[in-house]
Amino acid sequence: MRHGKEKMPRFQLPHPTKRMTTATFPTVRRQFDRRVVAAVREGLSAPRKRLPAWLFYDEAGSRLFDAITELPEYYLTRTERGILAAHGAEMVARAAGDRQLRVAELGAGSADKTRLLLRAVVAMQGMAVYEPIDVSASALHAARVRIEREITGVTVAPRVMDYTDGDGGRLTLGPVEEHERRLVLYIGSSIGNFEPAQAKQLLRRLRVGLRAGDSVLLGVDLIKAEAPMVAAYNDAEGVTAAFNRNLLARLNRELGAEFDAEGFAHRAVWNGAESRIEMHLVSDRKQRVHMGALDLTVEFAAGESIHTENSYKYGPGQTETLLAEARFQAEATWTDPRGWFAVCLGRAI
Ligand code: AVI
Repeated sequence: MRHGKEKMPRFQLPHPTKRMTTATFPTVRRQFDRRVVAAVREGLSAPRKRLPAWLFYDEAGSRLFDAITELPEYYLTRTERGILAAHGAEMVARAAGDRQLRVAELGAGSADKTRLLLRAVVAMQGMAVYEPIDVSASALHAARVRIEREITGVTVAPRVMDYTDGDGGRLTLGPVEEHERRLVLYIGSSIGNFEPAQAKQLLRRLRVGLRAGDSVLLGVDLIKAEAPMVAAYNDAEGVTAAFNRNLLARLNRELGAEFDAEGFAHRAVWNGAESRIEMHLVSDRKQRVHMGALDLTVEFAAGESIHTENSYKYGPGQTETLLAEARFQAEATWTDPRGWFAVCLGRAI
């Protein structure tokens, strides 16, 4: 494992991250998000401290992530967009076969790259129904307004749902007509933020809600030289560092925690044995942090880390195996000229 050295962040956190004084701490009883409380209590009480990556995406974190996708070092978004631009028409034609295509998307967010595929669907069949699925109602609303304004012929039917939730439960997608086939987009390397076993479980849950002949389009980041992978998670401008530290700022805002976010260094490392980039927040000193909503004080040794994210990278044949384990047959894979990223079409069998 090698450490990506942190550069000086030019990006500031959007809100004060210093200790809240007693005077500013709300005295009225607040409603805390129980899922956040449970995840933080469990993660920060563990012998190796961790926080789940979904905690990154509050409003500030989602904005920082959008900024990450524009960074020169973050090749993933740009590379995948290139693949979709070059092969989108072929992708949707294959997925449709002799039927009409209906498109859903998991974790749609702003649905930026998706527009390339929707344009290809409209060119192919004159119209498109697009069902973006996301936990964020506001992101879905923004995507709907933008897509319906920009692409004539697309009807957007958003679904607010946490598709990662549940243990083996069905991922409900709604009905399709006899003459239709469903294509589910799961692009952007989002699958890479799941442990391999969880990724398999998620695809299996997705498969339960599909008919044979429907398909999934999966975007995965591929294993490559270490330097570009580490740089993508340790940019010169410090945007990824701010994204990582925003987790602590979020706990301050939402749970009355008293993190000094600047007292934690951003670290991105390649773990070759596990084929993943790991992100950590490393305490720069021995410190204790109180979290009001949890009535919990957490102790950190100097150099102790909170593991905040895994981003798995896939090797040759691994995507195909993952799909097969969830009853999808990998029908075609498209990649970029450098072979850095792959988009794979899996047919439900
Ligand atoms: C959303 N996900 C695919 C990103 C990734 O590359 O794992 C999240 C991210 N973390 C740091 N930079 C971007």
